[in-house]
Amino acid sequence: MSNMTTSSAPGKIILFGEHAVVYGRPALAVPVTQVHADVEVSGAARPGIWIDAPDVDLHAELNTLPSDHPIASVINNIFFLSHVSPFPNLEIKITSTIPVASGLGSGAAVTVALTRALASHLNHLMTDEEVNAFAYEIEKLHHGTPSGIDNTVVTYAMPVYFVKGQPIETFKVGEPFTIVIADTGISAPTRESVGDVRKSWEAEKAKWENVFDEIGDISFAARHVIREGWVKMLGALMDENHALLKEMTVSSPELDRLVKAASEAGALGAKLSGGGRGGNMIALVEPEMAESVSLSLMAAGAKNTIITQVT
Ligand code: MEV
Repeated sequence: MSNMTTSSAPGKIILFGEHAVVYGRPALAVPVTQVHADVEVSGAARPGIWIDAPDVDLHAELNTLPSDHPIASVINNIFFLSHVSPFPNLEIKITSTIPVASGLGSGAAVTVALTRALASHLNHLMTDEEVNAFAYEIEKLHHGTPSGIDNTVVTYAMPVYFVKGQPIETFKVGEPFTIVIADTGISAPTRESVGDVRKSWEAEKAKWENVFDEIGDISFAARHVIREGWVKMLGALMDENHALLKEMTVSSPELDRLVKAASEAGALGAKLSGGGRGGNMIALVEPEMAESVSLSLMAAGAKNTIITQVT
């Protein structure tokens, strides 16, 4: 078992429906392959299971991590599921180009890549369905009440029309479209925004159920519009979705500033993407406008941009 096993998993963006998806409404998400988490597992000469994750400054032996640490939890559970005993000595290297706590699914990508690399190293076969179900359990450690959309997009690495608890459904893209992703540079754990939305919902259920319904309707319409290739209408739906997320208090001055800058620079629509409060926003653009919108977003304070095509 001294050979090396590797696995890679992409980042993701939510196009429509974040937060409302936690409450059973549909959401649309796509993988972003320009960023990814990569895991290498190999036999170790030294005793123990050594985890080296420089991006999150983690260099530790498994037993020194708290047992509810998501990475420790993946490793312990995969050992258990693989029936390996005693635990082999391993070096596990985790790297990721997906910014942490930015709404691009870094947690889910690390979980999926680590699960696959480790299971494969231990000759334990896992289907995509099993990887996805397992990653969902781990997502619950990252934030208490995940919908499961992040682990699903990242596991299957394809566009998904997601409804919590339903079989996965992909969607067809009639006309490819271009998205500029811009990072506020502000790290915002999903756990917090999801928790705050839950508090608002608990205090005023009827009000927020209505808002979730409106967002669900937008996701439903967006799937149709994407299938038909009506790119301009898609932009309007993004603007509407952002306004509702703002009402939900999951936007932030920085996100709003970038959304406004994108529109002023000629984007067809823009919204925050993911948990919000910081992290990333997305702007829908005509392909020839991608560079100039991206420059305007940088001028408005974005720390980084990614141009991606949804096909
Ligand atoms: C996070 O990428 C998306 C949220 O809707 C949370 C979830 O679906 O678990 C904010």
